Amino acid sequence: MSYSEQAPRHVGIIMDGNGRWAERRSQPRVFGHRAGAKAVRSVTEEATRMGIGQLTLFAFSTENWKRPPEEVKALMLLFGRYLRGEEERLLNNGIRLRAVGRLHELPKDVHNELERVMTSTQNGSALTLCLAINYGGHTEIADACKKLAERATSGAIRAEDIDEQAIQDALYQPDMPPLDLVIRTGGEMRLSNFLLWQAAYAELYLTPTYWPDFDGEQLRVAIADFHARNRRFGGLNEPQRKVG
Ligand code: FPP
Repeated sequence: MSYSEQAPRHVGIIMDGNGRWAERRSQPRVFGHRAGAKAVRSVTEEATRMGIGQLTLFAFSTENWKRPPEEVKALMLLFGRYLRGEEERLLNNGIRLRAVGRLHELPKDVHNELERVMTSTQNGSALTLCLAINYGGHTEIADACKKLAERATSGAIRAEDIDEQAIQDALYQPDMPPLDLVIRTGGEMRLSNFLLWQAAYAELYLTPTYWPDFDGEQLRVAIADFHARNRRFGGLNEPQRKVG
């Protein structure tokens, strides 16, 4: 079987540990974020080689605004620089950039840059790279509820027609596939409000490696681990199906 036949359709990564990586080197936190941006390139290239359909990276949460203003500012500058600096590489590698989150609340230049690169890369078919930026799972579900309420008020849908598909259709990216695998670096064991709806049946892979040290090789290890999992989606394995 070729790698692409085996590759998961949608992998999400909670990129944690930049600050601690920098601290270990007696460097400011932003030094870790810059190193984290380099890891994004390595992991994205490997994901493309492996034939993963979509890679969604948790770049900035709705809660990250609580960080010191200078760190938030440095991250926003880094996102802008990443978008400008990587556009050509994304185009050359057939990578389509997308984003989820309350994008309109981002600094105007970052929002504009995101929109511009999403448009220029829209025909990429080798990999969809999605940045979750100013993203929160609760916020996404609350925003979807608001949309559904508006649709019901305007008469476009009836309240009794609201089902799982209607909710999916009201999310930021209605065509986003469910997550097969969520990788979290940095040693913590939580989802931190990442793609809560889409992660319902995701397998979890947790590693103590800090994000700047995570690379393509480690992505391969995570995917190999994923392939060894037994996914039942709430059902049973074949031999367990015999009742009594
Ligand atoms: C969490 O580590 C990381 C973030 C909040 C920012 C993620 C951003 C990057 C990886 C930078 C580049 C990204 C792109 C898409 C260009 P932390 O700061 O919470 O680390 P800590 O837990 O060790 O303090």
